[in-house]
Amino acid sequence: MSLAVETANRLMVALDVPNPEEARVLVRLLEGIPCYMKVGMQLFYAAGPDFVRELKAMGYSVFLDVKMHDIPNTVKGGANSVTKLGVDMFNVHAAGGVKMMQAAREGALAAVAEEPSLHLPQIIAVTQLTSTDQSTLNREIGIPGSVEDAVVHYAQMTKEAGLTGVVASPLEVSAIKSACGIEFKTVTPGIRPAGSSLADQSRVLTPSQAMEQGTDYMVVGRPITAAKNPREALVEILEEMKQGV
Ligand code: C5P
Repeated sequence: MSLAVETANRLMVALDVPNPEEARVLVRLLEGIPCYMKVGMQLFYAAGPDFVRELKAMGYSVFLDVKMHDIPNTVKGGANSVTKLGVDMFNVHAAGGVKMMQAAREGALAAVAEEPSLHLPQIIAVTQLTSTDQSTLNREIGIPGSVEDAVVHYAQMTKEAGLTGVVASPLEVSAIKSACGIEFKTVTPGIRPAGSSLADQSRVLTPSQAMEQGTDYMVVGRPITAAKNPREALVEILEEMKQGV
């Protein structure tokens, strides 16, 4: 695989738009670049499973970012349904606990057992949202200690549950890899090219810094979707990523 393709496979474009029409415009602008497409709750709740099938039919890898967090039996059913959609990755909240995370895996495995043409998606757990800072963690969520300690603890629980990896800030990748091993995957939002707006993110790095930290997949939304020229913005980010390889 060429470096360009390998780099693009590690970039996930967050299609955070309100309807499938706007998403199609973006996807068309980015055509030919083999990046992952991330469908989050805004688009999924509006466009539904059909839009995910459409992306899969176009050959994209899809990360369904619906952050499941419910009792184990319900998450098992949710995981079963999204696996049948053919997604390549989906996520749950680590805060749901080890049993809930194991149930997600069981639901996905059951779908593959029923339909052997399906593949097992990578199942990722959200540790702490990249918008969560120290004071939110301590005062509002009620978890004492540092954000990094809380993230590493959740990453260890995720590994214990047998999932593929975690969503975290790029600032936490090295601590996660030290605690859980190099093969344990990290998916990192909170990526901001130098000079771009932070918006509501607080624990951020640039694309090249995130690559240097050893992130496996980076999620980028507004720096691409809100750019005057999204394709140019995406290509610039890929160039920045290559500098950090
Ligand atoms: O626009 P921006 O680059 O901030 O988008 C980041 C994307 O990553 C959003 O779709 C957001 O929902 C998602 N995300 C996040 N933090 C997490 C998990 C997912 O920002 N912990």
